[in-house]
Amino acid sequence: MNGLIDISPDGETLEACAGVLQEVFGYDAFRGPQADIVRHVSEGGDALVLMPTGGGKSLCYQIPAIARARAGHGLTVVVSPLIALMHDQVGALIEAGVSAAFLNSSLTGEQAQQIEKQMLRGELTLLYAAPERLTTPRFLALLDSLHERGKLSLFAIDEAHCVSQWGHDFRPEYRALVVLHERFAGVPRVALTATADDLTREDIVTHLQLQDARRFVSSFDRPNIRYTIVEKKDGSAQLMRFIRDEHTGAQGHDAGIVYCQSRKRVEEVAGMLNDAGFNALPYHAGLDAALRQRHQDRFLREEGLIMVATIAFGMGIDKPDVRFVAHLDMPKNIEGYYQETGRAGRDGEAANAWMVYGLQDVVNQRRMIDESPAADEFKQVLRGKLDALLTLAEASDCRRMRLLSYFGEASTPCGNCDNCISPPALDDATESARKLLSCIYRVQQSSGMAFGAGHLMDILRGKVTEKVTQYGHDKLSTFGIGADLSETQWRALMRQLIAREAIHVDSAHFNTLHLADAARAILKGESQVWLRQLSEKKASSRSKSGRASQTARAPDGQPLSLSERDCLDALKAWRGEVAREHNLPAFVIFHDSTLRAIAAQKPRTLADLDGIAGLGQKKREAYGADVLRVVSAFD
Ligand SMILES: Nc1ncnc2c1ncn2[C@@H]1O[C@H](COP(=O)(O)OP(=O)(O)OP(=O)(O)O)[C@@H](O)[C@H]1O
Ligand SMILES: [Mg+2]
Ligand SMILES: [Zn+2]
Repeated sequence: MNGLIDISPDGETLEACAGVLQEVFGYDAFRGPQADIVRHVSEGGDALVLMPTGGGKSLCYQIPAIARARAGHGLTVVVSPLIALMHDQVGALIEAGVSAAFLNSSLTGEQAQQIEKQMLRGELTLLYAAPERLTTPRFLALLDSLHERGKLSLFAIDEAHCVSQWGHDFRPEYRALVVLHERFAGVPRVALTATADDLTREDIVTHLQLQDARRFVSSFDRPNIRYTIVEKKDGSAQLMRFIRDEHTGAQGHDAGIVYCQSRKRVEEVAGMLNDAGFNALPYHAGLDAALRQRHQDRFLREEGLIMVATIAFGMGIDKPDVRFVAHLDMPKNIEGYYQETGRAGRDGEAANAWMVYGLQDVVNQRRMIDESPAADEFKQVLRGKLDALLTLAEASDCRRMRLLSYFGEASTPCGNCDNCISPPALDDATESARKLLSCIYRVQQSSGMAFGAGHLMDILRGKVTEKVTQYGHDKLSTFGIGADLSETQWRALMRQLIAREAIHVDSAHFNTLHLADAARAILKGESQVWLRQLSEKKASSRSKSGRASQTARAPDGQPLSLSERDCLDALKAWRGEVAREHNLPAFVIFHDSTLRAIAAQKPRTLADLDGIAGLGQKKREAYGADVLRVVSAFD
């Protein structure tokens, strides 16, 4: 027995699943590979699903769960690390008429028992649980009892990259999930993640014993996200200009997330944004759990809030209308960058991923790796991953192509990243690179010790400082040979040479610079170095046409008329009340796009509501009449 469902032959499973999609979730069509996945999983196959952030992984297990429950197979258990989100996720299912519950440490003993009883009575279709709860002997015994009666239908392991130490969010508890396979061998399992790199993927397969699972790998492209990476000057002032220019309209500013590296920085930036009249909230692991939860709830429930956060924030957050993700500090690697930026624009509408970074970021990240207690091989992998991100940041060609190629996907220039929109002018900087590399070499030779970036720049630019005279560096042949470049340009060049591994930063010794392997080819004139022309003027004249802020538009892209906009406002106000009553985020009741479609179509009868995306049967019954009443006030 491998749990194969008996609603098969040919096409019937898919038909049943499409029925659930339409009836329960109110959507007309599966997105991309969803159709194949839900069929395979509904029929009892194991699966590993790799799909981008916001790609629609939840339906890949929710629909099979519902279809299989209807066919008498019982309960689907969803493993998720996201305790703080379970309440809303389950709330969304209940809104759609699905019997669901969660078990985690936020419940009292009595509440938990209540849910266990429901589960044993076969009243639940989906149960969300944290991994540490699931793998307790007590809970496994409950599952045994369901299993014996053939009422354990499916395991869905969400955010499966948590099993891997290479992922950005390693959770040791996830390793214990292998027990699901060992103990309930016949029960199908689907593991899902938005992390695509090979190391993580293989880790998932090994640690969860999914060698025989079918793999579904989607394109990782998020075409509606515009990638921009700029040089850090005065990071926070640049951030404010960015939000003001690109994300502020008559109605206030868009919802967005700003990532910073440290708790202290989070607090500073949130304070600064608030002082400047933006609505910002801090989020980091140093805040107490209740406050953190409150800030997360507000971000999900209110419009136009900016969450300033460490990477502790964001996984699994299904807020559809986050219009920008800004990085004030560089992430650790491309996976992290991709995950974090992926939280923008889940509704498919235009969104910005914007990052500032500078030499200091590179140095900091290197130091964190060097100083970590990990084994050398492990550090080597981390350094390689950091270098890949540096290369992306230094790139002067299409960012999206680079990003996708990192995940093994070939593509063509996208037309929707900073480099595609305004291709940077490049100068041949090979000669300057050679000056810098020889300077590093000469200084080390003459003084028997190495120096940091600042001092080397002083020598190159011919600045007579105390330190320069103290070491006699004004006597070197490289003194003053680089006066043609500004400090900013030298820094840019250093970053690029670090990214290319021509320079190594020794963080154990005061961040001194040393020659690395790739230096030889440059010094010998075998490889060229290009440097972006400084583009201070160009940056500010950037077209505003790319503004990702949300103007009210109907789903066909037509702007809404005045009365339609009033209608939309009225619908939003009504939705806000419902959401408060149910203690859920507004988008769980209806997405903006659903309300916009209603405002544009002005339904008169319940039948007119058919075919509006996001309005399943249960929601039509529960809210249809209210929606018609709100709409009827507008003609
Ligand atoms: N077939 C579909 N038609 C319309 N909307 C869909 C469809 N599938 C998913 N969506 C919507 O896409 C959004 C993102 O889906 P979901 O939360 O499942 O993403 P995810 O892949 O789990 O992302 P993450 O990795 O961030 O958790 C949801 O708001 C969902 O309603
Ligand atoms: Mg998800
Ligand atoms: Zn591009």
